[in-house]
Amino acid sequence: MTNLSDKLKKDIQYGLLKWFDEEKREMPWRETRNPYKIWVSEIMLQQTQIITVIPYFERFIEAFPTVQDLAAAPEEKVLKCWEGLGYYSRARNLHRAAKQIVAEFDGRMPQDWDDLLSLPGIGSYTAGAVLSIAFGQVLPAVDGNVLRVLSRMFLISKPINVAKTKKEMEALAGCLIPIARAGDFNQALMELGALICTPKSPQCFRCPLQKCCCANQEQCQASLPVKEKKAPKRELKMVFGVIYNEKGDVLIEQRPSKGLLANLWQFPGGEWHSGSEAHEVLRDIIKEKYQLDIIVDGDQIALKHIFTHLVWKVTAFTTCSVQGGCAVLSKGGTARWVKWQDLKDYPFPKVHQTIIMKVEGRKDDQ
Ligand code: ADE
Ligand code: SF4
Repeated sequence: MTNLSDKLKKDIQYGLLKWFDEEKREMPWRETRNPYKIWVSEIMLQQTQIITVIPYFERFIEAFPTVQDLAAAPEEKVLKCWEGLGYYSRARNLHRAAKQIVAEFDGRMPQDWDDLLSLPGIGSYTAGAVLSIAFGQVLPAVDGNVLRVLSRMFLISKPINVAKTKKEMEALAGCLIPIARAGDFNQALMELGALICTPKSPQCFRCPLQKCCCANQEQCQASLPVKEKKAPKRELKMVFGVIYNEKGDVLIEQRPSKGLLANLWQFPGGEWHSGSEAHEVLRDIIKEKYQLDIIVDGDQIALKHIFTHLVWKVTAFTTCSVQGGCAVLSKGGTARWVKWQDLKDYPFPKVHQTIIMKVEGRKDDQ
């Protein structure tokens, strides 16, 4: 596959770049060649749509304008800025990598492939994107969009979610890149996948690569790319409650520093293993964790949180209260009583932000 004719390569490069120059969308990180900003944008874009990323990117860069600012920031501030974007290990890795860049690379983004790959959270996609876009290095940056476009253009029916196929696609993409415009070419392939060669109903009639595309010639766009079936995600039932004390403060707890949603804050609760009713499970969890007796009351809301390998099916109670009035927490724990209006100072996972919004919506109704 890597012995493509020069004519085909030139046609692809010329057609795609011409289209990109005319059609590319404006994005804040496209107005810079600052490697730090490009890196931040590429990490944010990994699991998140562009339209969602833009305001987060602007806030993040305002809070941490340079890699030094990011390295010096407390983790909680970084997580707070990331709140709602999900996949928080991205934020934690970004933060750790920034510290490493300051400590080991004199605060300058490494321009060497192996140096970049040694940083947490940077894989071949991110390294290729940063090195090509910021430094013009002729390296591929193959994300899901690019895998889809290439599998259709070259009629590759190997499963794209398998590491070996991705490596082969990277080699193929590497052969196509024009030396003078590596970063633009990589972004153009991604942009084509996002705007024209979309997962469902690609718009081949207005695709700049239509003439070079094998799937178009064979009319088999719809059956590419092929993906290997993954095992279904494990489902966990979870129960949480908004618990008030006699002063009207609410109880929040910090999640462990390792594992899922590490160090984020949440309304107290946990896994709902047993066959008991949700409110009984919540009451027992709170009794065991905090030696508090609560009355579970208020609306019961059902929410879903999808992670990479599992799904939380959440039941949340909006109004629980501490019985007896001796709501004292043990010292040194990771739970706090806080004022409702101070919840905004803590980073919460998205389901818990939704709980906050639901409670506030209900309050407005009254
Ligand atoms: N998706 C991720 N990074 C991108 C970029 N630089 N341009 C277009 N789409 C992208
Ligand atoms: Fe995708 Fe159609 Fe363009 Fe081929 S012609 S790259 S299938 S949009």
